[in-house]
Amino acid sequence: MKTIVCKTYEEMSACAADIIADVMKKKPACVLGLATGSTPVGTYKELIRKHRAGEIDFSAVTTVNLDEYYPISPENDQSYRYFMNVNLFDHVNVDKAKTYVPDGTAADPDEACAAYEALVSKVGPADIQVLGIGQNGHIGFNEPDSALEVATHVTGLTDSTIRANARFFASVEDVPTKALTMGIGTILSAKKIIILANGAAKAAAVAKMLEGKLDTSCPASMLNLHADVTVICDEAAMGQ
Ligand code: F6R
Repeated sequence: MKTIVCKTYEEMSACAADIIADVMKKKPACVLGLATGSTPVGTYKELIRKHRAGEIDFSAVTTVNLDEYYPISPENDQSYRYFMNVNLFDHVNVDKAKTYVPDGTAADPDEACAAYEALVSKVGPADIQVLGIGQNGHIGFNEPDSALEVATHVTGLTDSTIRANARFFASVEDVPTKALTMGIGTILSAKKIIILANGAAKAAAVAKMLEGKLDTSCPASMLNLHADVTVICDEAAMGQ
């Protein structure tokens, strides 16, 4: 894995946006694999700035997001679809019909996951996948476990993830208890991966990922199987 350690969150976000912009310039009809959460917000802001400056064009781009809560409606302001619209899609010239997020409203979530897996391989694989990392080393909603899922699947959220995400909902009871997420194999199918981490709370997970071992108690360690992964973090996240 290649690592880039930046002084500030802003520098990290600019670095990630430069790498994404480079992929977009080389291949205008590229597929971007995207993540939600607080970490990539600065990267998306920088992509919006580059778009407004005429540096990048989203008109031919397709996007595939990692995950979505289940059940949740796209109008719910905590849904990942809503997040993507507000933080990126509403501000660039992407064709929203070509932006895909797993379907949090599907009557049959297993069927929705199988359909999403098929969709990612049909439109993809992603030319670049953007990832954040959980404090427990999760990627997407692939939580630490004795066995990790390969393909897109329905998963229960761990108590720690529900508690961590409760800050965004009216109460902890309002946090959906399930999610639809790309599996480790879906994520590894991307041609290039960047994983972003900032803050001391991520330092232990980043250190474990960089040990170079495959440890299912740190799902991000599975990225060691991929030949083109760049870890972009601040000094605090690289602290351990
Ligand atoms: C979001 C996702 C999650 C987050 C992770 C870190 O689509 O897949 O794995 O990347 O929970 O979240 P933040 O960035 O909020 O610390």
